Amino acid sequence: MAPSTSRGGYLPLSTDSRFQRSRWTVTRLIRNGPPAAALIALALVTGLFGGLALSAYGHRPESLTCLLPTGGSDTPSQYSTAPPTASIPTPSFHEEDLDLETLRDVVSRTKGYYARDYSMALGWNNMRYIIETALFHGVLLNRTVVLPSFVYARSCEFDITVCASYAPMVNRGDAVHSDEWRKLPEAEQMGWRIPLSVMVNMTHLRQTQPVILVSEYLRLHNLSLDHEASNGQWETEKYHQHASIFETDPTKKPSLHIIENHWYDPKGINRIDYIPDDMRSRGNWNPEGGAKGKGEVGSWGTQDKSRIYTFLAGALSGRQHVLEWDKARSILQGLGVGDVSTDEALEKTLRDNGWEVLYTYDGALGMEYIKNVVFPIRQVAPRDSLRGLKEDYGDVSADVLLVKGEIHYERKPAGLRFTTIDSRDKFSRLVLYNMRPTDSVIELAALLDSRMKEKTGGRMWMGAHMRRGDFVRTNWAMEKEFGDHLKRIKKHLSDGRSLLWSLRESDLTTYGVPDVSVDRSILKLSPPHENDKFYIATDERDPGNLAYLRDHGGVLASDLLTIEDRRKFGWPLMVTDVLGLVEQATLARGAYFYAHALSSVAGGALNIRAARGADPRTAVID
Ligand SMILES: *[C@@H]1O[C@H](CO)[C@@H](O)[C@H](O)[C@H]1NC(C)=O
Ligand SMILES: *[C@@H]1O[C@H](CO)[C@@H](O)[C@H](O)[C@H]1NC(C)=O
Ligand SMILES: *[C@@H]1O[C@H](CO)[C@@H](O)[C@H](O)[C@H]1NC(C)=O
Repeated sequence: MAPSTSRGGYLPLSTDSRFQRSRWTVTRLIRNGPPAAALIALALVTGLFGGLALSAYGHRPESLTCLLPTGGSDTPSQYSTAPPTASIPTPSFHEEDLDLETLRDVVSRTKGYYARDYSMALGWNNMRYIIETALFHGVLLNRTVVLPSFVYARSCEFDITVCASYAPMVNRGDAVHSDEWRKLPEAEQMGWRIPLSVMVNMTHLRQTQPVILVSEYLRLHNLSLDHEASNGQWETEKYHQHASIFETDPTKKPSLHIIENHWYDPKGINRIDYIPDDMRSRGNWNPEGGAKGKGEVGSWGTQDKSRIYTFLAGALSGRQHVLEWDKARSILQGLGVGDVSTDEALEKTLRDNGWEVLYTYDGALGMEYIKNVVFPIRQVAPRDSLRGLKEDYGDVSADVLLVKGEIHYERKPAGLRFTTIDSRDKFSRLVLYNMRPTDSVIELAALLDSRMKEKTGGRMWMGAHMRRGDFVRTNWAMEKEFGDHLKRIKKHLSDGRSLLWSLRESDLTTYGVPDVSVDRSILKLSPPHENDKFYIATDERDPGNLAYLRDHGGVLASDLLTIEDRRKFGWPLMVTDVLGLVEQATLARGAYFYAHALSSVAGGALNIRAARGADPRTAVID
């Protein structure tokens, strides 16, 4: 991670009068004229509209075009500056600013703040699970989690100037101090600063979780909102300049305790939530020991390593210092040592030999990209490799506790493993029920669901997420590859259709998630017919490919969305990442879902399906 800037990361304000003028024009059009007409005109004039939404909109309103900015001919340098704030009110998303007393009360019920260096270079679904991890740590440590006030959306459904008229546009590389995108065309380097409350229902989240935004932390400390770092890093000096406004002693600036990144889970260490009492006594836990220089509080008693301990330890390899439950059993079975006849017997054998059972979630295809919480599993690890987050950092008294750097790559959801099923279920509930999109997203997804049903004559419908490259494909030669991709999807949907025909009420089940009951509503509809239309969520934007998709039965979000929907939802729907939330929630309502394993988009959709009580057989990830 690049160090944060002394500028506080916000990019200089635009001095380009053309840019200001076009913002004003759009604002005026939206306030005074029919918004949808303005958007249509903008989109048509500024290009990049493609064949996607054109058919849904129809004609081009010539009379408006003279008022509008000509985005296509603008010089790229104009795009690397951001207007100060998004000034257009967003009624359907706007979360009322909490007053300072309310914020103080949230914080005072906890030991202080939990801060992270947020990886703002990542897309929403990655940010989402990083946020979920922070939220869980906050609960575990009894601290108020400080979340970034905004995230970066990575693409706009229309010309970039259209989105820039509603949300501050930045060059993402400049904003997060990364050269990752420098070689892309200028337009693809841009990002839009979207308030977190557009992506997550913050009001709902606050009901179960002590959480505030960086902007609220700044207000509480009488600091300008401009101080919020554009790259998501916690500013260890700037954010600590002033005492809280409720502090009578102005010299009492917030203190900081840093958890170094290499303390978190270095090689050979398994980060866990906390050490339960029975585990403490099995391992002669000494709360006074531990290497202070490595952030450790407490240590395991020394124990003779039995043959079984050593056999199992010999099988550990790679980054993950754990063994799968079944692998541990087969190793011991193969060696003919220990009682492994039942799960209970195996657990006892492990515990008697310095190993412990941990609870976590299965990845997909042996990798940890999907980060969902719907496939609970057990793993086993040597007891002396376990370090509890709560033991090590639960007693820190500093106002702000900060984990430096990233702790998600190759890690399990929550960035740790759980020592009890209860604790894992707490995290699952946070992900499945407390992190929720806004009502607008949920309502629009319900509407798109009903429109899909109309398209399939009231039958069950099936959907897929079709992940394509980040580049718009214009090359005719890509056609074949696209066709193959679609063929693969159709093959899976065909298997899905057979499955839906075979579903019986009596054998419907749910994912292994807490507080959910079987969704039987699916059986009220009749199963799909062979030539039924199917829903495709895709980042493909090449008109030829999209036409091909439609010719072969695919239905896109833009085919289902009406002008009414767009007006009601408001500007965020123009941002691809927000449309993505709607698509994810829509796919979660389909009778059958197919997606790719490397995608955290798919992971998010599975979470929603699980929370809804969908049968696990009705989704396939490959
Ligand atoms: C969290 O910390 C606050 C402030 O120290 C304390 O009043 C509260 O009891 C703690 N809550 C829990 C669950 O320990
Ligand atoms: C906030 O800071 C300003 C100067 O930056 C100062 O004038 C004002 O009194 C401060 N307010 C509080 C409540 O500390
Ligand atoms: C957030 O969720 C609450 C329910 O907890 C709901 O009443 C409210 O309307 C939601 N707000 C938004 C903006 O979606």
